[in-house]
Amino acid sequence: MTKRILILAGDGIGPEVMAETRRVIAWFAKNRGFDVTLEDDLVGGASLAAFGVPITDAAMARAHAADAVLFGAVGGPQWDANPFDKKPERGLLRLRKEMQLFANLRPAICFPALVGASSLKPEIVSGLDIMIVRELTGGVYFGEPRGIEKLADGSRKAVDTQLYTTEEVRRIARVAFDLAARRKGIVHSAEKSNVMHTGVLWREEVTHIHKSEYPGATLHHILADNCAMQLLRNPKQFDVIVTDNLFGDILSDEAAMLTGSLGMLPSASLGARDPKTGRVPALYEPIHGSAPDIAGKGLANPVAAILSFAMCLRYSFGRGADADLLERAVADVLDQGYRTADIIEAGRTRSSTSQMGTAILEALSRAA
Ligand code: IPM
Ligand code: MG
Repeated sequence: MTKRILILAGDGIGPEVMAETRRVIAWFAKNRGFDVTLEDDLVGGASLAAFGVPITDAAMARAHAADAVLFGAVGGPQWDANPFDKKPERGLLRLRKEMQLFANLRPAICFPALVGASSLKPEIVSGLDIMIVRELTGGVYFGEPRGIEKLADGSRKAVDTQLYTTEEVRRIARVAFDLAARRKGIVHSAEKSNVMHTGVLWREEVTHIHKSEYPGATLHHILADNCAMQLLRNPKQFDVIVTDNLFGDILSDEAAMLTGSLGMLPSASLGARDPKTGRVPALYEPIHGSAPDIAGKGLANPVAAILSFAMCLRYSFGRGADADLLERAVADVLDQGYRTADIIEAGRTRSSTSQMGTAILEALSRAA
């Protein structure tokens, strides 16, 4: 059956990295019998410019209908002063919420060729392979009440609400334990149960799921601030980290940077399997943002977007061997010395976005 992928390239470097990803998809269609049709739509600033909203209802309908969404990046300085509902990021948040993509998988892997690109010592990061599992549809990102209110004396009050329910914590805990079972079997659950009620509930519910469903896994509870510190001190102690929406946002940027560059890391956002159709709603996106300062210059690293497609092959289409092939091709071009601006080292020539894409296609053809 032909698979449907919706591409939402978005703003800034989004369209550039997605252009390279399209070439990779075409390679799999041509050489590996990957039967796919691609559709395109607008999101973020691009959608605001065309339609006045960060994502249209029509684009949302296509996202729901697609087998997977590949997302580029959103945002830029021209929209920074926009009111909340007219910010490009709302497009992404609406996709996450309405597709119910509650599980965000953010691997932080240090490629051997890039050990030197990390700001930490090589022995601290070499061989690093962490999976951050971030809860993506709850917490302070969506909790009500929220807003800014004018007070009687003319000053203002702002409120955001951190909110978690039993079921929200349990389902993300299961995702983390399931992933750990295929890895080293260690889960660190990060919260702030020393100051937050949501942290207490989080800790109790994760403990419950561990005891009742995954007794064979190793579970450590860790306070989120300590987790941030330990990620810099000794990141290789971690296997899977499960945490809430806001802590996951922060800890995943930190973990990503351990590996040398935000430009390298993919992510998958997954929902619950539909019992009737068997389908899992899924959106794949590079961890990096829209990087407006380098947009349009051929400086962006397409690897994170391309590796996001590898996750798509693995998680949405059951094509693990193809995902392995693509991940090896990326490792291969890094070994050969190809470097985009973000991971450049002294003595190497810089590859443009499309040169990196071409090198990956060549490595695929050599390996296939
Ligand atoms: C991320 C980003 C988003 C977030 C922004 C763009 C809304 O930082 O995916 O980590 O805060 O979740
Ligand atoms: Mg973030």
